[in-house]
Amino acid sequence: MEFFLDTASLDAIRRWQAFGLVQGATTNPAILAKEGGDPLDQLRQVAELVDGPVSAQVTHAEAPAMVRQGEALSQVAPNIVVKVPADLEGLAAARELKEKGVSCNITLTFQPAQAIAFAKVPVAYVSLIIGRVDDFGLSSVEEIANARAMLDKLETPTKLLAASLRNPTQIIAAVNGGADVVTVPPSTWELVHQNPLTLQGEQDFAAAWEELPAEARRAYENLGT
Ligand code: E4P
Repeated sequence: MEFFLDTASLDAIRRWQAFGLVQGATTNPAILAKEGGDPLDQLRQVAELVDGPVSAQVTHAEAPAMVRQGEALSQVAPNIVVKVPADLEGLAAARELKEKGVSCNITLTFQPAQAIAFAKVPVAYVSLIIGRVDDFGLSSVEEIANARAMLDKLETPTKLLAASLRNPTQIIAAVNGGADVVTVPPSTWELVHQNPLTLQGEQDFAAAWEELPAEARRAYENLGT
């Protein structure tokens, strides 16, 4: 199982690379726009920094334009994977891009049946979007395991990528549901690793420790110095 970072922020990529959580990166137009500046230049820098696949999404809505833009995006760097939406224009584009040898990631997939035709191409990745469903008070985490079982039955090389993960529960569902790739926004990793109970526990233990006389603590504290 691989972990990608769902960002185009160079600082965030460097931060999470140091913790071994950047085996690839995923971007979309909103993620690139958030960084400001020239998105093409930003994408080039991300692709250079990341040692692994970097997804870049097309911005056109019709297949012929998606194919032209996708082919050009794939030439920006050798590790670019072209993202196209899980609609029929995206399906037509993905089929043509496959013939041209361009690796594709299908985005905005909310229900496993949407992945069948793409798995038959076969594309490199299908991104199952989780957080955007939860935003409406619904839940789709069970669709990760459904999609896993379905792709296995289809005997496709298409990898299942769990995306749009907003909280720790969704990350666990992605891992336990058998995603091949879990792409996590930096803000979600921050949330995972700033668990208030962990921080409070550290304070509790430190306060209890301070109640010992300094002399009693000295040998223990000086270990390894
Ligand atoms: C990733 O591939 C998707 O584009 C991304 O996870 C979508 O995230 P959002 O739902 O936060 O926009």
